Amino acid sequence: MPKTVEIADLKRIAQRRVPKMFFDYADSGAWTESTYRANEEDFRKIQLRQRVAVDMSDRTLASTMAGQAVSMPVALAPTGLTGMQHADGEMLAAQAAEEFGVPFTLSTMSICSIEDVASVTKKPFWFQLYVMRDREFIYNLIDRAKAAKCSALVLTLDLQILGQRHKDVRNGLSAPPKFTAKHIWQMATRPQWCLGMLKTERRTFRNIVGHAKGVGDLSSLGTWTDEQFDPRLSWNDVAWIKERWGGKLILKGILDVEDARMAVSTGADAIIVSNHGGRQLDGAPSSISALADIVDAVGDKIEVLFDGGIRSGQDVLKALAIGARGTFIGRAFLYGLGAGGKQGVTQALEIIRNELDVTMALCGERDVKNLDRNNLYKSGLETKPRAAAPRKKRA
Ligand SMILES: Cc1cc2nc3c(=O)[nH]c(=O)nc-3n(C[C@H](O)[C@H](O)[C@H](O)COP(=O)(O)O)c2cc1C
Repeated sequence: MPKTVEIADLKRIAQRRVPKMFFDYADSGAWTESTYRANEEDFRKIQLRQRVAVDMSDRTLASTMAGQAVSMPVALAPTGLTGMQHADGEMLAAQAAEEFGVPFTLSTMSICSIEDVASVTKKPFWFQLYVMRDREFIYNLIDRAKAAKCSALVLTLDLQILGQRHKDVRNGLSAPPKFTAKHIWQMATRPQWCLGMLKTERRTFRNIVGHAKGVGDLSSLGTWTDEQFDPRLSWNDVAWIKERWGGKLILKGILDVEDARMAVSTGADAIIVSNHGGRQLDGAPSSISALADIVDAVGDKIEVLFDGGIRSGQDVLKALAIGARGTFIGRAFLYGLGAGGKQGVTQALEIIRNELDVTMALCGERDVKNLDRNNLYKSGLETKPRAAAPRKKRA
């Protein structure tokens, strides 16, 4: 794999190696993509506070997320069709995360199944749940995640209907890909990807196929979501899901203070402040601009996690300083996977770890758990005056 120094390098390599329809699936947002772009751009508005002549030896990035020890507070986010970025993508990414000491979250809409991932990992991974109309299938899915010893359930609340992504419609995205002239050409120009896909039997949604009854047109995500996802999902459903699961529960897709309060009332263990990477409600605020208000409203009642737009360790530090306990990366690891399989995911994690570590040192901090708003010079996002958080003592 060519040498890479930043996530943007991995993205460039992935674009050369992954067929266009799957690269575009990762690199896209809903409609005008304004929220997708804002997720990245708003991080740049936040300035860090440089401190000098402080002891920066013996630094640590170790922390916890949802009660689980992590080597750095950066988990891999659930992403659908990951096994189309690279053959057996979910299994490789889970192994990379396990070796690195960070959580891997398997999507309901993955190519490799819960059992596939469990067969190549030793430590528990996390499972992300989409709620479908077929409740038997959902009970069964939760039970399969329990049987595989998944250590947290991530319930996604912001995708009961699909926000249209123009690129996917124009590309005729499907898994497995259709054999039209356009798609054959896209694949023929990516021979390494094709070779991997020919060697694996995992080319469709293996959590679903053979498990869900009456599965219609699975090849079109939009049609299948319309048919199967339950548009009536409400806060009341969280209770039975929590009870059936019986373990750590994380609610994903919270972007509003009122919803954050509702999430607290469910008794869940954590929330993820997220707009689905700008893939659902275009025109919604960036995740990072929504974080501070949510932390201020519920941060003392529930663990607040964060995702959306993280492309560097500096972005991770900014989210932690605003008040997130931990973060998730989506595209940053998908680009690594597309660029170089398991090694590419490890490279993505290494890039982020080094950037986070050096940035933390230059901010005058030695322990990632001590980061707070005092490490920010200006957030650049504030709309109303905010009382400065008291300076924490050094550990
Ligand atoms: C290609 C792709 C597929 C995704 N699929 C899912 C999914 O199946 N379930 C889910 O909860 N979130 C899904 N997401 C959202 C991610 O979990 C996460 O919220 C988002 O990627 C964070 O933004 P980032 O990519 O800028 O890091 C997906 C994101 C991408 C980019």
